Amino acid sequence: MQGVRIVVLTGAGISAESGMGTFRDKDGIWTKVPLEDVATPEGFARNPQLVHDFYNARRAALKPAKPNAAHFALAELERAMRDAGGDLLIVTQNVDNLHEKAGSENVLHMHGELTKVFCGSCHHKLDWFDDLGLVDVCGHCGKEGLMRPDVVWFGEMPYHMENIYQALGQADLFVSIGTSGSVYPAAGFVNEARMNGVSTLELNLEPSENAHAFDDGRYGAASEIVPAWVDDVLKSA
Ligand code: APR
Repeated sequence: MQGVRIVVLTGAGISAESGMGTFRDKDGIWTKVPLEDVATPEGFARNPQLVHDFYNARRAALKPAKPNAAHFALAELERAMRDAGGDLLIVTQNVDNLHEKAGSENVLHMHGELTKVFCGSCHHKLDWFDDLGLVDVCGHCGKEGLMRPDVVWFGEMPYHMENIYQALGQADLFVSIGTSGSVYPAAGFVNEARMNGVSTLELNLEPSENAHAFDDGRYGAASEIVPAWVDDVLKSA
C-alpha cells in the first residue's frame, strides 16, 4: 500500500450497531423530533433549552457507547496503511467520538462534535462532556447563556471542506459507509471523487440514494461488511 490514499466518508449507519441512532431510517431521530427545532440556528434562537435538552441526551448516550467492529476495522486499516507509507483519512458526518474511541487518529468531523461546545459571542471552543445549559458562562468572554453545541446545523457551513476536497482530489479510492447520501455537501463527494478519476465504493445496509454513482457497492450491516472489506484490502496489499 506504498503511497496509497483512501478517503472514507462515514455516516450514522456506522454507529447504528453501537446504539447511536440514525436519522432517516424508519424509527430515525428525525422521525421523533423536528430537525427545524433542534438542528438549525433559528431553532436555537427560538427555544435554546429544547436544543440543550436534545444534545444533552445524545451526549449522555455517547458516554457508555462503544465502537463496533466497523470502527475498529477502520482504525486497523489506518495503522496498516500508515506503516506501509499510505494514508487513510476518515471524513465523518457523525458527531459521536466512536472513531476516536476505536483508535482512529486521522478523523475530520465535518458536522462538528457532541463533545465540544462554543460561545455564540466570542466563538471560543471548549471540550464538554456533561450537560450544557442556559446559565453556563463562556470561560473566555464571560457571557452567559450563549454557549451552544459545536455541531454544524442545517444552513451552516460544514467544517474542513478545503481539506476534504483536496483529499478527494488526491485519493486512489473513496469509500462511503453508512450514509443515506441525502445531505450535501457530503452526498456530492462521490461525484467529486469520480471527476478526479478516483475509484468509488459504497458500503451500506442498503443501496443509498447515490448508489448509482459508485463503481461498486457491498450491502449489509457495517459491523460485518466493513471488517470484510478491510480484510480484502489488507490481503491484496
Ligand atoms: N450498517 C450499515 N449501514 C446502516 C446500518 C448498519 N447497521 N444501519 C443503517 N444504515 C444506513 C441506512 O441504510 C442509511 O442509508 O445508514 C444510513 C443512515 O442514513 P441517515 O440516517 O440519513 O444518516 P446520515 O446519512 O449520516 O445523515 C447525514 O444528516 O441530519 C443530518 O447532520 C446529520 O450527519 C447527518 C446527516
